[in-house]
Amino acid sequence: MKSAPLFACLAIYLATCLALSAQAAEQPSAKLGAGVFKARCTTCHGSAGKGDGPAARTLPVNPANLTKSRAPNDYLKLLITEGGDAMGRSASMPPWGEVLTPLEIDSLVLHINTLRPPLK
Ligand code: HEC
Repeated sequence: MKSAPLFACLAIYLATCLALSAQAAEQPSAKLGAGVFKARCTTCHGSAGKGDGPAARTLPVNPANLTKSRAPNDYLKLLITEGGDAMGRSASMPPWGEVLTPLEIDSLVLHINTLRPPLK
């Protein structure tokens, strides 16, 4: 079994690669957020987040224009998680905490920050 150490090395190498790629997949990113936004948020907020999605006109309150949002990231995260009603805003903004993972919500916040000028 001269090749045993070689296989052991290969196994350790593969395990490290898998661990590293799993770790990379767990980081929130604006890219991931953009995908979730497209799937879940554009009907109301529009593809560029301007609050002009196809469902916007059917709502009693205009969906926020996210390109103009000056809300801090913590607030965005809370509002997306809890929904408008729980935050004293319109119930037309649904809660997403039971639908999306914290990773997806953090990624949405990163994505929203690519749509608006940086906070000071
Ligand atoms: C059914 C329509 C609808 C959908 C779908 C929707 N929203 Fe909203 N959203 C609203 C409305 C309406 C408001 C404005 C609430 C108010 O002003 O009281 C709002 C407000 C917000 C705000 C507040 C911005 C600020 O500066 O205060 C954020 C952030 C937000 N939405 C993010 C999202 C994200 C992210 C998604 C997708 C996961 C999403 N929304 C999906 C309707 C929607």
